[in-house]
Amino acid sequence: MTSTLSAASADGGAEQAPVPSFAVVSGAQVQGALLGQEKEIVELVEATYRLHGAGDSVNPPSYFLRFPDRRSSRIIALPASIGGPGRVDGLKWISSFPGNVAAGIPRASAVLILNDHDTGYPFACLEASIISATRTAASAALAADWLSRSRPRPTRVGFVGSGLIARYIHAFLAGTGWWFDEVGVHDLSADSAAGFGGYLEQVGSVGRVRVYGSAEELIRSSDLVVFATIAAEPHIGEVSWFAHNPVVLHISLRDLAPEILLASANVVDDVEHCLKANTSPHLAEQLTGSRDFLAGTLDEVMAGRVEVPADRPVIFSPFGLGVLDLAVGKYVYDKVAGSGELLVIEDFFHELRRYG
Ligand SMILES: NC(=O)c1ccc[n+]([C@@H]2O[C@H](COP(=O)([O-])OP(=O)(O)OC[C@H]3O[C@@H](n4cnc5c(N)ncnc54)[C@H](O)[C@@H]3O)[C@@H](O)[C@H]2O)c1
Repeated sequence: MTSTLSAASADGGAEQAPVPSFAVVSGAQVQGALLGQEKEIVELVEATYRLHGAGDSVNPPSYFLRFPDRRSSRIIALPASIGGPGRVDGLKWISSFPGNVAAGIPRASAVLILNDHDTGYPFACLEASIISATRTAASAALAADWLSRSRPRPTRVGFVGSGLIARYIHAFLAGTGWWFDEVGVHDLSADSAAGFGGYLEQVGSVGRVRVYGSAEELIRSSDLVVFATIAAEPHIGEVSWFAHNPVVLHISLRDLAPEILLASANVVDDVEHCLKANTSPHLAEQLTGSRDFLAGTLDEVMAGRVEVPADRPVIFSPFGLGVLDLAVGKYVYDKVAGSGELLVIEDFFHELRRYG
């Protein structure tokens, strides 16, 4: 992250000072570094949740920039710091512009800045929509594994919302050993459902692929249900649709009416983060005036401090932690640097002599 160059000291003499370097890592490089690494990334995400649970992190609330003239859009800042062997600080800056999809480009776009632990200097800017989707999918696969350990392993997965995040989650489930008798899809957009079906065909997904016309049918037919929509408020309110006690990965956070959460075991990534911004867990807290409906965090489940009951639906609602972006971003940076392919921007930090 630094190279040693000659810089003038205050008294005019020359001394060896570390001159921070700055690199830009493209989406193609990010994708190359993560290709086929599903198991390793899930392990990295698990280790990062444990680090965060142990308090070796700083993860302040995300900051939501919203616009009065573009109400469905937002840009979120996720600053964070992680300790452990790969200690690093940084910031993910991620836009969500749902209208992009109709224009033919993805909803989300992002950059991740990594800052050096000792000097604070930013040392890399990485394309981060892939990093973000990857850490989200890895945490979903991790949760699916841990939350289904006390019940028969799900064999019918159903996706409500079948965009880019659904594709990444499917890839991470498949890449970490899951197989399904059936992959169900329900999406308000026939194009999205068809696009997802095409992806499943292309990757040679085992099991039959079935497109469902209603969320009810899909949920009732799935023992692992993934919500990856862009719903701003609950559109699923029938508790009886979950009577078969599925494992639910509630990635889009706002699909479920609070009544469904109150009838389920609820696991989150971080309590303070998740009970904000009118997520379904936040609505459940507002409705009941308490947090008693929460079983605990995924870290507590992994540590054996929280048990997952088999006789209720279990719902994982991950707010999405900046520490995960940092961990995956640092992994990518180290891999690209190790391959000798790092694109360093020469003289990025230019004003390095205090008095000129
Ligand atoms: N929790 C996290 O850490 C995390 C991280 C990344 C993304 N996300 C969330 O994942 C969601 C999906 O992101 P994406 O990039 O795949 O978006 P996308 O726009 O590519 O896909 C969303 C899909 O959901 C469909 N949809 C919208 N409302 C629906 C409904 N009521 N029923 C069924 N389908 C519906 C849309 O037609 C679209 O195909 C977003 O809400 C995003 O905020 C969460």
